Amino acid sequence: MNFTIKTSALQNLTTSCLVLGVFQNKNLPDSTAQVDKALKRQLSKIIDAGDISGTAGQSLLIHNPAGIRAKRIMLVGLGKKNELDRKKYVAALKNTAAALAKYSLADALLTLAELPVKEMDAGKRYQLLAQVLENSTYRYNHTKSTKGKKPALKKVDVSLSDKSERAAARKGLDIGSCVARGMAVAREMGNLPANICTPTYLGEQAQALGKNNRLLKTRVLSEAQMRRMGMGSLLSVGHGSDQESRLIVMEYNGASERTKPNVIVGKGITFDTGGISLKPGNAMDEMKFDMCGAASVLGTMTALCALKPKINVIGVIAAAENMPSGRATKPGDIVTSMSGKTIEVLNTDAEGRLVLCDALTYVERYKPKSVIDIATLTGACIVALGDVNTGLMSNNDDLADKLFHHGQEVVDTCWRLPMSEEYQRQLDSNFADIANIGGPKAGTITAACFLSRFTESYPWAHLDIAGTAWLSGKAKGATGRPVPLLMEYLLSN
Ligand code: BES
Ligand code: MN
Ligand code: ZN
Repeated sequence: MNFTIKTSALQNLTTSCLVLGVFQNKNLPDSTAQVDKALKRQLSKIIDAGDISGTAGQSLLIHNPAGIRAKRIMLVGLGKKNELDRKKYVAALKNTAAALAKYSLADALLTLAELPVKEMDAGKRYQLLAQVLENSTYRYNHTKSTKGKKPALKKVDVSLSDKSERAAARKGLDIGSCVARGMAVAREMGNLPANICTPTYLGEQAQALGKNNRLLKTRVLSEAQMRRMGMGSLLSVGHGSDQESRLIVMEYNGASERTKPNVIVGKGITFDTGGISLKPGNAMDEMKFDMCGAASVLGTMTALCALKPKINVIGVIAAAENMPSGRATKPGDIVTSMSGKTIEVLNTDAEGRLVLCDALTYVERYKPKSVIDIATLTGACIVALGDVNTGLMSNNDDLADKLFHHGQEVVDTCWRLPMSEEYQRQLDSNFADIANIGGPKAGTITAACFLSRFTESYPWAHLDIAGTAWLSGKAKGATGRPVPLLMEYLLSN
């Protein structure tokens, strides 16, 4: 999708559709001041007639407006002017994208990025406009013989009256568009079925990304290589599967080699049956999404390759398939992790932490500035935070605060849960250094406590995306979260 900044008066711009916001007090935003008086009177009449009241979610299409080059005007409801915050702004953008798609419009001129959004600067307004509009055009088609129609929107012009904001707006548009491209990759990987999207497949996708981008180097470790490094915990998860496990390492080098990297590590369970601790059958198909952490890492690396910022980032994916079989790990089995710590596998369905812990030990070699793992780790996180906030846990207050605030800024929100010392006792084992489950209480936190035993040498945060990575029901599908949050954090470094 192409985003172009337009600084001329709105009535002089040629477009299939000029999109204007309307506040609930029936006022057009100040940003439409450039629209000439006659047109403003025309629009005021339509608004006064009650055809649109300006509440959020509304839209109204006007054909052949007089005195203006645009073929159509679309009015979009914004709600109350003094209540326009980031979330309402994003909702208005989504609503706009849906309305444009409904009329199959291939190009449009948007004025919404000039709206006065609370606590949001110009750069972010343009960034979110590009991200939301571009993300709205994603459709899953890979395994459908009749491909759904792609939204027609190809060319988006965005108005800008304050020319001093031009550089910030351009930068915002570029970031937003690259983030959306990363989200599309994350969504596609998440949505693909587990008989296509295997650990090997994820490795191939990462290799392909490395081939096409000079700044990215990919390495894919085989089971034999992992065995030599002592990754007994990661390997124990894939024991029952006919699919080989993989450790996928992507090194993005946009800065000098001396610059320490930030590391992101994704849980890549391409299907989670639970293993011998077999899951109940209902909605088990959704466990194909158990690699959405990995997908967000691949998506973020894709976004970085498109944007090419001068930073260093390592993306790691711990990929395995969790299956029951005669070779599968059994409850009570004890495995030795790469760190040397022994783990009693009391429940084979708590497999995410088993693959992550070895990946987290592996990344010590980068002497990272920070490490963030992203995982669909616990059902308990859905109980606690629903599909609204990602669970955030950390051994470092500064890192946790940053992630919280970046999440708010790009409306990809997370909420911190406590990881106080007392919870650690729940992981005591009579037979190994640590157990892989901590009982029914505080399941999201004890999962993080398990990981914390392997992350003592660097600032670390854990994002539990069990509730936010995909939607169930009619809109079933991967969301692309938390690519926006990860990008925002990485770009702030
Ligand atoms: N992938 C699941 C967590 C999950 C379940 C995410 C449902 C989203 C929806 C994870 O591997 C798992 O099975 N966790 C267990 C942990 C338990 C055995 C301690 C869980 O949450 O039940
Ligand atoms: Mn599981
Ligand atoms: Zn899982």
